[in-house]
Formats: sequence, C-alpha cells, structure tokens
Amino acid sequence: SGLRMSPSDLARIERIIVAACGTSLYAGTVGKYLFEEFADLPTDIEQAAEFRYRNPIIQRDTCMVAISQSGETADTLEAVREGMRKGATVLGICNVVGSTIARECARGVFLHAGPEIGVASTKAFTCQVAVLAMLAIAFGRARRLSMDEGAKRVAALRRVPDLARAALEREDAIRKIAEKYAHAEHCFFLGRGIMMPVACEGALKLKEISYIHAEGYHAAELKHGPIALLDSTVPVVVAVPDLPGKIKTIANMQECRARGAPVIALATEGDAEVRAHADDVIELPPCEAFVSPIPVVVAEQLFAYYVARAR
Ligand code: M6R
Repeated sequence: SGLRMSPSDLARIERIIVAACGTSLYAGTVGKYLFEEFADLPTDIEQAAEFRYRNPIIQRDTCMVAISQSGETADTLEAVREGMRKGATVLGICNVVGSTIARECARGVFLHAGPEIGVASTKAFTCQVAVLAMLAIAFGRARRLSMDEGAKRVAALRRVPDLARAALEREDAIRKIAEKYAHAEHCFFLGRGIMMPVACEGALKLKEISYIHAEGYHAAELKHGPIALLDSTVPVVVAVPDLPGKIKTIANMQECRARGAPVIALATEGDAEVRAHADDVIELPPCEAFVSPIPVVVAEQLFAYYVARAR
C-alpha cells in the first residue's frame, strides 16, 4: 500500500531498525549509511533471527524496515510480528507481491525487480539499495534535507541504470580476471564505509554459486586476525572506488600484497593510485558515493558468475 506516512509521520520517527537476513541484511546495512547521512536517523541493523529471539528495545518513535526479497523468510517474518507487537511502525521492502511479509506489514514498497530464478539474490539487492536510497531521501526531506539536495540525489538515482549498464560492459574484463583466479579455494573481500556491506555481499555471492570459501570483512578488520590466512593462493577482492577512506583501503591492499596475496581492485576508472597497488583492476564509472554500491555489486555478481562457470 505504499508508505502511508505523511511528512509529519516521517518527521516523528527518531530511530530506524532494519531487520533482514543474508543479502537483504547487507542491502539494509548500505541503507544505514543513507538514513544516517540524509535524515540524521540513528539506524540499527538487526539480523532478523537475533532480533526475534532476544528482547529488543523498541521505542514509540521507532520505524522498523523489514527487507526480504521473497517476503517469506521465517526469521524476518517473526521479527516483523515482534516489531508490531512492540508498537513500531513497520515497513516492508519485498519483491514478491502478495508474500506473507508484504501482507502482514501492510505498508511498504515492492521492488518489482522481477522474479529471482536462481538461489542467488542479485537484481533484488540493487533494487533494495535503490529503494532504501529513496526512503532515506523521503525521511530526509521531512527533516533536514533541502529541496535542492533532495533533487540532486533523485537525479543521481535516475542515472543508476547507466551505471549498471557500464558495469555490465566490463563483462569481458571481469570474465578474464575470474578465470585467472577460479582455481582458488579461499578468497577475501574487503571494503570500508559503504563498501563494507558491499564486500560482504560479494563474498556471499561467490561462496553461494562457486562453492569457494569466501569471507567479507571491513578492510581495517583484516589485520586483526584474518591476515594470518593470506598467502599467494588467497586472492583478495577490494571494493575501493574513489570515496573518502580510499587511501586507508590502499594501505590495506599493500598489507595484503606484502603477504603475497594477489589483489583485485574494484575501482573508479582511471584511478592510477589504486592501480599501482593492485594485480588486477575492474574499472567502474565515477558516480556519487551513495549509489556506488550498485555498479560495484554488479561487477561482483559477474565475477562470482564467471568463477562458477570456470569451475
Ligand atoms: O528472501 P529474503 O531476502 O528474505 O532471503 C534472505 C536470504 O536467505 C537471502 O538473501 C540469501 O542470503 C540469498 N540467497 C543470497 O543470495
């Protein structure tokens, strides 16, 4: 039924809780950055099973955003029910029209991404991020986001299809890189800031369809243990578009290479700084920070696909 929230309803919300699982959880984590940046709304990310089995704190002005491609994931559904029992305003972001979560939420947004045929959620992720960006703009406009800033962000969203198309045009390059590393048995994905959940999603896609052991980490977390696992047989895929924090991520790339691990960078086209510290680079078009997860994840999806094909 849509949001069914007036601007004053949106302005009344003081906190967001995102509840979801898997890929939907990672999309929700991207959303956290946007809710906080566009709307100054503190946002908690809750694995839906964790949320439903503990005694979560929900205040009167909490909006719960339940994200589920299928609209049928049991833990997310029970999280929705618990959120409703405790008085939250609950929105559903679902793909499947008529699904249980969509019906029980009674307010929210359908993705209309088309059916996800295989087990891997792909176009649902990109659409979830787009819808979360629209929600964050809507919340922002009811609060501190100016009309001008809101319009700029809407214009950036309208350019997303071109960004996705540009990422798909890198298919040949991505296939060659995927074939080069398809023999690996372990792989790490790194990112920081909004690229952290994107790294986790890249690892999830790779393990899910290629059966390679893959881990997604915050780039700064690697040195706190997992770096011990790196050697020349463990490629590291780094999501490092030209965003704040890039220099720090380049330092992490250097740490990986110092252990002999090959580094594959997902970077902004023409970025010589990143190229100097990577073994392979997948170049993506420049874009606004908040939409950058979309082209990067499309490249990761293609990478996972071609690794799986090669194996
Ligand atoms: O339908 P949902 O979005 O609720 O599903 C949640 C997860 O099971 C799902 O995202 C899973 O992680 C995907 N198969 C990943 O590609």
